[in-house]
Amino acid sequence: MKIFYNLLAKNVIVLGVCVFSFTSCFNDEKKEVSKNEIIEHKIDSLLKLMTLEEKIGQMTQVRHFYDIKDGDVASKFIGSVIHTDGPTPGVTAEEWQSKFTKLQKEALSTRLGIPLLFGVDAVHGQNTFEGSTIFPHNIGLGATHNAKLVEEVAKITALESQATGFNWVFSPCVAIPYNEQWGRVYEAFSESTELTVELTRASIKGHQGDLSNNSTVMATAKHFVGDGATNKGIEGGDTSISLKEVSEKLLDPYREAVNNGVGAVMASFNMFEGVPMHAHKTMLTDTLKLGMNFDGIVVSDWKGYSRFGEYKIINAGIDMVMAVDGDLDFFQNGLKNAVDSLLVSNERIDDAVKRILRQKFRLGLFENPFPDASFIKKIGSEAHREIAKQAVRESLVLLKNEEEILPIKKKTKKIVVVGEHANNSGLQSGGWTISWQGKPENYNGATTILDGIKESAEGIVVYDKDATGKHFDADVAIIVVGETPYAEFFGDINGENSYKLTLTKAHQKYIKTYKEKGVKVVTVLISGRPLVVTNELEVSNAFIASWLPGSEGNGIAEVLFGDYNFKGKLPHSWPKSVEDYKGKYGPNFWDNSIKPLFPFGYGLTYKQ
Ligand code: BGC
Repeated sequence: MKIFYNLLAKNVIVLGVCVFSFTSCFNDEKKEVSKNEIIEHKIDSLLKLMTLEEKIGQMTQVRHFYDIKDGDVASKFIGSVIHTDGPTPGVTAEEWQSKFTKLQKEALSTRLGIPLLFGVDAVHGQNTFEGSTIFPHNIGLGATHNAKLVEEVAKITALESQATGFNWVFSPCVAIPYNEQWGRVYEAFSESTELTVELTRASIKGHQGDLSNNSTVMATAKHFVGDGATNKGIEGGDTSISLKEVSEKLLDPYREAVNNGVGAVMASFNMFEGVPMHAHKTMLTDTLKLGMNFDGIVVSDWKGYSRFGEYKIINAGIDMVMAVDGDLDFFQNGLKNAVDSLLVSNERIDDAVKRILRQKFRLGLFENPFPDASFIKKIGSEAHREIAKQAVRESLVLLKNEEEILPIKKKTKKIVVVGEHANNSGLQSGGWTISWQGKPENYNGATTILDGIKESAEGIVVYDKDATGKHFDADVAIIVVGETPYAEFFGDINGENSYKLTLTKAHQKYIKTYKEKGVKVVTVLISGRPLVVTNELEVSNAFIASWLPGSEGNGIAEVLFGDYNFKGKLPHSWPKSVEDYKGKYGPNFWDNSIKPLFPFGYGLTYKQ
């Protein structure tokens, strides 16, 4: 029976396409049938065969663990599987691919044989797989102001994601952070809408390329809209700016993404005009889908169905639901009941399913549903790491260089490298690295900042983890300090935690200890946002904002020792005091009474 239906489905599609091609080819205008027209025809043919359960299944996204048990992909007609924090599909990439191949076969065994989309939070490289190339977080890419490079980074991320079994990434985050207290500032490129638009275009092009090529993936512009503009930077809080400001400052990156064919847009956790974004029909349907002509998938964020209004989010315009953490049956049964009781129309369901099928056809998944084993050898390859290293070098922003202490001479007799951040690839990479919130632990394939310094320096290099080593005879101290890894929610800084806007007392002491003994101090700041470091800047002889560089820590030394010049320019204006955070509310919003310590775009270079 299954085989019969499969054949039937496929023949209806083939027949439909032939008939369509025939009439089109012989009409008066001799119009050629476009790829898109063929896809639309296939979608319509397939949709006609689908039951309501199959349609709701397509609208469902689950994790490959916890949410489902064996057989669920087929019996619940699941449309998409994600991997994020939690048990990995295996250790090696072969194991990851084989786990997803198994699930894909299960999906293909259903009577209509619709392939799965496999999505992953690959937000700075395929950062969920240990051994992949991990790039600087987007804030660092923003500092490069280099669209060509961002495109290259996205291309590699796509390939390494495909190599581990994914055809969809939940990236790029195109938010405009209004407030550094938000724990996701680093996931976004910049506070500047213009720069974000430019880098969004590059990122979408790099990820998606020619979508039907199996080395590219579907990208997601997230989180629509106002995620970075909540009051006090609270994740999922209230975005209380006006619609006019949303239109002027926040929508352009999405428009750019849509114009460049982005396959998905993720709804955001925040409220706007008193309504959760997931349930905000005017924004999701009228503005994004109709206003921008977006024909792709609007995907919910985590547990969006139970959190933000159940079937109402479907009516507002959500097409696919992240039905995780106990939401699977609740969503599928709930939506079925809502359709049966006419709370959700069949037209809305059909529109959602069409959008999902459209992307599956565009990705060529019906012809090419499985991951390509030949890509595995490219994960973390030399060539990929070279690009990541270039991104690290170009992301570094030189904020101070007193008496041209930099570049450090390679022949310097003794260099002391201070701070746990200097010798820990987990610390230098931030959140969304191997695990969701990141970890202060080394991971495979990465080089640390200290590794790089040792490679470049020709004199003695000693390491002093916590500035107790008393290497006061050193000619230079390279002091690496900054934030410990965090991601969404955990990275928010609220009023009581405002000390986090500055360096910890311990880190302040590292700098002081060496400075007071007359050693020249070069401070390297690792952070996901500008911090208030006015005093430390004052004390240091040189100061570098290096953001969250990722796996290629050795890129930093190449610039410190003068093999390359500094190129990075600030993607955010830089606050002078903790008080400034209260005044800064919006991009380029330093009102006249508050002057940033450094403006957007600031960055020194070595004299040529
Ligand atoms: C985040 C998204 C992410 C999703 C899937 C959510 O909590 O807000 O950015 O893509 O989880 O892991």
